[in-house]
Amino acid sequence: MLETLEIKTKQTENSRLSSVDFENLSFGKYFSDHMLVADYANGKWQTCEIVPYGNFSLDPATSVLHYGQSIFEGIKAYKFADGTVSIFRPDKNWERFNKSAVRLEMPEVPEEIFLDGLKKLLDLDRGWVPGADGTSLYIRPFMFATEVALGVHPSVSYKFVIMTGPVGAYYSKPLKLKVETHYTRAAEGGVGFSKNAGNYALSLYPTKIANDEGFDQLMWTDAKEHKYIEEAGTANLVFRIGDTIITPHGDTILHGVTRRTIMELAEHFGYKAEQRKVSVQELIDGIENGTVLEAFAAGTAATITPISTIGYEGKLYELPPVAGREFSEKVLTYLNDLRYGRIADEFGWNFLV
Ligand code: COI
Repeated sequence: MLETLEIKTKQTENSRLSSVDFENLSFGKYFSDHMLVADYANGKWQTCEIVPYGNFSLDPATSVLHYGQSIFEGIKAYKFADGTVSIFRPDKNWERFNKSAVRLEMPEVPEEIFLDGLKKLLDLDRGWVPGADGTSLYIRPFMFATEVALGVHPSVSYKFVIMTGPVGAYYSKPLKLKVETHYTRAAEGGVGFSKNAGNYALSLYPTKIANDEGFDQLMWTDAKEHKYIEEAGTANLVFRIGDTIITPHGDTILHGVTRRTIMELAEHFGYKAEQRKVSVQELIDGIENGTVLEAFAAGTAATITPISTIGYEGKLYELPPVAGREFSEKVLTYLNDLRYGRIADEFGWNFLV
């Protein structure tokens, strides 16, 4: 039973830490020495251990490879100047992970494994957390179906894993986004709100087309009419129109922890904050009449990445210059100061390891 599930640790004898070039961190290039692995079978979590990072061996009939029961999360940990390691709002990712699990008919992961296990893992690999501004330890919890069977049914067994690695920026320049009006990411009643692998797989072909046209990423729109803005696939979208901070809402988009944090900070800073439908036309009109002052992608990996240009029906619309975007700069400065421990944690968002 879970109450007696002890998280055992098997430490590596060959740390790879000295091979990391901490001056040149990109995204997803390095993986820390250890990972947490928990196995679910017979209706309960059977084992949970921290082991050296390494391969899994899978039977070709493992059900995730065929029917895609696979979900994940993205979280970041930061290092304060005094060496303290702090994880940013992992409780919110844990909650979202379990919502994804329910929608994909997978077991929920208990706090003892997800949050306590994560702290134990980071305690062991604290040397891997970089401290320079713009860097962090990216944390990737994920779970996949492990039953060896080709019948289409929920797997009877699962593997939950947490892997981590030091990262720098995901996007290194302002984004040029294409409003997608043909392909669809998510429909009402679907799985758009969940962080399942399929939501990313389906984005690759339309994104490749946009890349070939010179865009960095897509701005997805609703499935019915392609009139309302949803998200960017790798991040949520936030706009400043006048003194109102606006983000699309609904169950067809991922409910991002960074998005939520930004909306909470917008209210705290005295802006109006609205989660509502945003039509493409409202955005285009606002760019043309000068009321759209800021637009950015918001996510754990993306942090706050400014949007410079929006492409819609063959026309390009330029947003105001990135320098001098007051709200984005204020939020980013606040978040950096908080995450690197330079200001008081007034909302209780830092989980110290
Ligand atoms: C994150 O922001 O953590 C994500 O999972 C987005 C990603 C696909 C890079």
